[in-house]
Amino acid sequence: MKTVLPGRLAAVASFVREGAYLADIGTDHAYLPIFLAERGRISYAVASDIRPGPLSRAEENIRMAGLSERIQTIQTDGLSGLERYPLTDIVIAGMGGMEIAAILDAAPFIKRTRPRLILQPMQHIPELRDFLARGWNTEKETQTTDGGRLYQIFCVTYDGISRPITEAERLLGRCNVEHRAENPALFRILCERQLALLDEKIAGLERGGRDASKQKELRRSIAALMQDLPPQN
Ligand SMILES: C[S@@+](CC[C@H](N)C(=O)[O-])C[C@H]1O[C@@H](n2cnc3c(N)ncnc32)[C@H](O)[C@@H]1O
Repeated sequence: MKTVLPGRLAAVASFVREGAYLADIGTDHAYLPIFLAERGRISYAVASDIRPGPLSRAEENIRMAGLSERIQTIQTDGLSGLERYPLTDIVIAGMGGMEIAAILDAAPFIKRTRPRLILQPMQHIPELRDFLARGWNTEKETQTTDGGRLYQIFCVTYDGISRPITEAERLLGRCNVEHRAENPALFRILCERQLALLDEKIAGLERGGRDASKQKELRRSIAALMQDLPPQN
């Protein structure tokens, strides 16, 4: 029986290009490369993890799927030592945004080889956007819901061009803002979540007698972005 992925990882897998030479960083169970290899969608994969426990779980799953010839495991920190592989696509999913940024920052070879990066941070998403604004072209940013939680997925390539982002784009994602009319329901959820967080922050600042004008201005700019959305069905 072929591996089935939960919605979050299936959405991540959909961005891996046909025939890719893939690296799955922090692979844990290796379900993602196994799923793609079983369907003939990748030519080869390196499944890496920093810890031996997850890696032996990955090795066992790869062996059981009969894919040891197509998926190699490696214990390493982030992308360290992976420059020797002709990687076309790299997935880093299920980690914090700052951890993902640190992994990319520590691997200058990807600025030369420019693989497609598919990133799915669990938290610290604005911090990851800050990092990506300094030379990384976000071709696509999308959301997927899984088990009642909303996940962001970034598809990026290094091009060396800095693209400063506004405070609203930092929270919502520039691609999400630019393409908000294409998926208004999800964009509305993103905005409502940020508005609720800002309301809490504003209330806290005001309770402490502190200035909340910056947060109120940000709130107005997010509310304005919701105003031109197509009406809900
Ligand atoms: C929460 S799991 C995510 C597994 C899988 N990628 C997913 O999205 O379902 C995070 C995995 O990343 C590994 N990890 C954490 N930091 C890492 C690093 N710097 N380099 C490689 N692997 C790392 C952990 O050992 C763990 O197996």
